[in-house]
Amino acid sequence: MTDLSVANTVARQMFDVESVRKDFPILSQTVHGKPLVYLDNGASSQKPTAVLDAMDRYYREMHSNVHRGAHTLGDRATAAFEGARETVREFLNARSTREIIWTRGTTEAINLIANGLAGKLKAGDEILVSFMEHHANIVPWQMLAERTGAKVIPVQVTPQGELDMDSFDSLLGENTRILALTHVSNVLGTVNPVQQLVAKARKFDVITVIDGAQAVPHYQPDMQALDCDFYMFSAHKLFGPTGIGALYGRESMLEAMPPYQGGGEMIERVSFERTTWNTLPYKFEAGTPAIAEAVGLGAAIDYLNRFDRAAMERAEQELLARSNALVETVPGMELIGTAANKVPVISFKIAGLHPSDIGTLLDQQGIAIRTGHHCAMPLMDFYGVPGTARASFAFYNTLDEVEQLFTALRKIQRLFA
Ligand code: ALA
Repeated sequence: MTDLSVANTVARQMFDVESVRKDFPILSQTVHGKPLVYLDNGASSQKPTAVLDAMDRYYREMHSNVHRGAHTLGDRATAAFEGARETVREFLNARSTREIIWTRGTTEAINLIANGLAGKLKAGDEILVSFMEHHANIVPWQMLAERTGAKVIPVQVTPQGELDMDSFDSLLGENTRILALTHVSNVLGTVNPVQQLVAKARKFDVITVIDGAQAVPHYQPDMQALDCDFYMFSAHKLFGPTGIGALYGRESMLEAMPPYQGGGEMIERVSFERTTWNTLPYKFEAGTPAIAEAVGLGAAIDYLNRFDRAAMERAEQELLARSNALVETVPGMELIGTAANKVPVISFKIAGLHPSDIGTLLDQQGIAIRTGHHCAMPLMDFYGVPGTARASFAFYNTLDEVEQLFTALRKIQRLFA
């Protein structure tokens, strides 16, 4: 179990992968005449019927704009939209829905925070990130550093793909103002000990920002236990729709931050003399929000809540263990990222094969993976590779699919390496 592992202790529906797969209509199709094996969940995961139905029902029965009051459909839409916010609050164990801001996704949430913290930084201040960050958790901080004269400093990773704790301890100090760290690496699958790192950072009064995009499909993080200032994720990786994500922010931090965008819902009163902001969470939600998408995200979390998350986690770990065991059956295959604590993601290279060729050849056999730099170029530079091939599993993947992946890899290696 990880420090932020499954918070659910309530007995739930047992996890049976074959029956779960029936909930995901997209999975039962063929690609190039072969049954689809979808192993690109780190990029985006598939949606259960419960999510599709919730969004369909929303549009058929209750669509209107939210928070506008005057009629029944508006009330229904608002109830569904705010109900979804409460579902996210519960999922994250945040104290209040005032701490849950809708965004377009993880990237927008990090940009919102980086923008909002500008007033807190001065020249010489340090923003600690790591070599395993996604570009979305590097570039907004570089932009902020450019505006303020602060510096972005990366924590080293070990060759196994874990955060180098000596590097972390030596870089964290009096000048550190922000720690922006991924909970789980999208390339390596490494689960960082974020609770421990946040606790260390808080001793120096550092603002803590945790990118949860790759964590929430596997774990249910607890904001009160984690005690970070900000945490964000995207719905589309959590079996929900594209176009929406959630930002958790400690209420006092959000109160102190200026709005990100102006217009619509985020105002209290506008005049040419003085405009005032709405209360939380609306202060950060300018314009008509992604209402159906919020409903879809709520439905995705409700769907996950039907299951015993600990059993799902065990099933995922079996996929990872089987994958690890099969690596040696593919001549020249090497994993990039062998941390002790990982989600079921394997990044790899195969001697004599370019990652993009591996991706194309697997696709011809119906197997979907991602190849390239995975928006993590500093990490690629660290490992001295232009890119990797990456298979990223979800709870609906099977051990049989793992076997199919490795059978295909052996064939590709034999024929093309
Ligand atoms: N960040 C997503 C990935 O790792 C898109 O594939």
